[in-house]
Amino acid sequence: MTPSSADDPADPIDPPARALEPAERYAAVRAATRALAEPLELEDYGLQSMPDASPVKWHLAHTTWFFETFVLERWRPGHEPFHPRFGYLFNSYYESVGRMHPRPQRGLLTRPTVAEVWRYREHVDAAMQALLDSGTLPPEALEVIEVGLQHEQQHQELVLTDLKHGFWCNPLWPAYREPVDRFAPSSSSATALAWLEHPGGLRSVGFDGAGFAFDNERPRHRVYLEPFALASRLVTCGEFLEFMADDGYRRPELWLSAGFDVVRHEGWRAPLYWLDASEPNDYGGDGRDGWRLFTLAGARALDPNEPVCHLSYYEADAFARWRDCRLPTEAEWEQACADRPISGNFVETGALHPLPLSHGRHARATEEPGPHQAFGDAWEWTASGYAPYPGFRPLAGSLGEYNGKFMCNQLVLRGGSCATPASHVRTTYRNFFPPQARWQFSGLRLARDLSS
Ligand SMILES: [Fe+2]
Repeated sequence: MTPSSADDPADPIDPPARALEPAERYAAVRAATRALAEPLELEDYGLQSMPDASPVKWHLAHTTWFFETFVLERWRPGHEPFHPRFGYLFNSYYESVGRMHPRPQRGLLTRPTVAEVWRYREHVDAAMQALLDSGTLPPEALEVIEVGLQHEQQHQELVLTDLKHGFWCNPLWPAYREPVDRFAPSSSSATALAWLEHPGGLRSVGFDGAGFAFDNERPRHRVYLEPFALASRLVTCGEFLEFMADDGYRRPELWLSAGFDVVRHEGWRAPLYWLDASEPNDYGGDGRDGWRLFTLAGARALDPNEPVCHLSYYEADAFARWRDCRLPTEAEWEQACADRPISGNFVETGALHPLPLSHGRHARATEEPGPHQAFGDAWEWTASGYAPYPGFRPLAGSLGEYNGKFMCNQLVLRGGSCATPASHVRTTYRNFFPPQARWQFSGLRLARDLSS
């Protein structure tokens, strides 16, 4: 591998697919899912490493079930289900649709076979394309199809994060794909952190524009913000190493009580997927000093300048406290990033890992005022609990179960990651996970108060 450098050309990102006609967009999103499966061997499709993660085969079928259930059964005259039991197997959590197979047991489903799931996808795709080509669908159907495509894009990210966790559990450490030279760790210098000050005041957040947004992003509403400052970039692995070297994982005064309980119970001493190469281990540790990272391209050296990721909320919060800072609220993040273009290291770059700000991919972006890395690279934990906005109304019918019923005991993350499709993210996009979750590409950006 040859190290990348700041001289690398900034490779262009695919333009968002929103301008496509519905039939074209449907085909493009479904093809993107297929492409994610291309590097896989047959044995990989059924892997489920933990209850939170699902097998690729299940993702492929569940996203298809979504279109069959919410579009074809309603708007395709005389539609018969592809298989009478697939509704039970591939319903995720829609209680109003019917019963469902237990989530932790999705990895037990050796049948249907992978080939049958591909046939299921082809069958539903053909029916969907015929419906889209007919030109007879009412606007409501097109809106539900767009929800289905956004849903499929969410599962595209989960395919990658779930596979990564599954491969991590294998002592052979399989690589999802081979390393790519231009994304290899570099020895470039750190990019200094700057503080971007914001005056606060009465502001508006939430979505009210044209185009798609999830129900949880609406309605746009006013919030009052005290003056604050937001870091110009994401926290790096090097900075997180300083926290670890300062006994960060062993100092209860830095942690929320629930977080320190998890640290002790799980034995956490580093972010997920960090490998202590100084210790002999079951994975063939080579005795070299320092930390290595397990990535979708296998294990490799850690670059101190790359953004730290695979952190839980608890770790992000503890790090911020150690730095005498805090996490931004989601309203602060949205205000500070409102003028940033939706551009960055998304899944289309092919890096499949956060890139240092000094990487050529970010060269154009750093010529502009920050915040940098606002979109792509790593989801950013915020201090905001996932709760309904004032005036929130869930989608009508069963799709009302999509977001609203999860608005408890989770934290909001913003900005997308290196596994997120570029056309999926908005400034107002609200991702959410429980505070102990760390198998997503989740990192952090610091914030602090300004005296008014
Ligand atoms: Fe889903």
